[in-house]
Amino acid sequence: MREVLVIGATGTTGSRVATGLAERGVSTRRATRTPRAPGQVRFEWTDPGTHRPALTGVDAVYLIAPIGVADPVPLVEPLLHEAVESGVRRVVLLGFSALNEETPGWGALPGLVRTVSPEWTVLRPSWFMNNFTGDHPVADGVRAGEIVTATGSGRIGFVDAGDIAAVAVRALTDERPHDTDHLITGPRALGYDEAAAIITEVTGRPVAHRAVEARELVARLSDYPPEYAAFLAGLDVAIADGAEDRVTDTVARVTGRPARDFRAFVSTELAG
Ligand SMILES: NC(=O)c1ccc[n+]([C@@H]2O[C@H](COP(=O)([O-])OP(=O)(O)OC[C@H]3O[C@@H](n4cnc5c(N)ncnc54)[C@H](OP(=O)(O)O)[C@@H]3O)[C@@H](O)[C@H]2O)c1
Repeated sequence: MREVLVIGATGTTGSRVATGLAERGVSTRRATRTPRAPGQVRFEWTDPGTHRPALTGVDAVYLIAPIGVADPVPLVEPLLHEAVESGVRRVVLLGFSALNEETPGWGALPGLVRTVSPEWTVLRPSWFMNNFTGDHPVADGVRAGEIVTATGSGRIGFVDAGDIAAVAVRALTDERPHDTDHLITGPRALGYDEAAAIITEVTGRPVAHRAVEARELVARLSDYPPEYAAFLAGLDVAIADGAEDRVTDTVARVTGRPARDFRAFVSTELAG
C-alpha cells in the first residue's frame, strides 16, 4: 500500500481512520475542504478540479459520500471512475445499516463501489455512540437532560466510531481485499431509555428519553429541510419497528478485539 486517500478526514470516522492508518505506518492523505496542516489535501465534492490531484498516486480510498445531498450518485460515480483510471485499486465505502439498496440515491452507492472498484468493502455501521457527544441532536438532548426520538422502545446496536475505523483500517490495508459488506454494531442493542439511564448513572447528570410520534419529531427538527427531517423521523420509526435490534461480531472478527460497550464509551467520553 503506497498511500490512502481518506475523504472526510476531519470527521468522526475519517479522523480515526487516518490516525489508525498512520499508526500502522501507512502513508495517508487527509482530504478536507480547508487544508491547514501537513498531510492534508484540498477536496471538495462539488469542485471536480480538486479530485484528480487528491487521487493521483493513491492506491486506496476511504469514501464518505457528500453529506446533506439528497442523491450523492452524480458526485460519487464520476469520482469512482476517475479514481480507478488514476490507479486506485481499493475503495472502502462508509455506508449505513439503516439504508438498503432500494433507498433512492444513497442506496445505489454500495452497488456502484462493487462494480467500479476492483477491490472493495462496504461498511454498514449501525448508529454511532458518538451521536451522544459533539454536534448532533442526540447530544443536544444529553446536554438538555432530555433526548427526544420517535424510536419508542426500539433497540439499536450502537457502535463506537473508533471500532468502525478499526474495521475500515483492516479493510484498507489487509493484503487480501475483503470484497464484502460488513454490518457493524456494538456488543449489545439498547433503547434510548436504557442509554439515558446509563448516562445518568455514570455521569450523575439526569438524562431521560421522551418517545414522541414521528410528526412531532419532524416539527422539532425544524433546522433541517422538511424532507430531510421526514427522512430522519422515518429512520426512527424503523427503529421502533425493530429494524436495528441486532448485534454482529464484525468488530471482533475483523480486528481481533471486542467492540466497545456503551457504558465504557459513556465513562470515557461523557463522564467527568
Ligand atoms: N451518525 C450516525 O449514527 C451514522 C450511522 C451510520 C452511518 N452514518 C454515516 O456517516 C456519514 C458521516 O460520516 P462521519 O460521521 O465520519 O462524518 P462527519 O463527522 O459528519 O464529517 C463529515 C466530513 O465530510 C467532509 N465534508 C463535508 N462536506 C464536504 C464536501 N462538500 N466536500 C468534501 N468533504 C466534505 C468534512 O470535511 P471538512 O469540513 O474538513 O471539509 C468532514 O470531514 C454519513 O454518510 C452517515 O450516513 C452515520
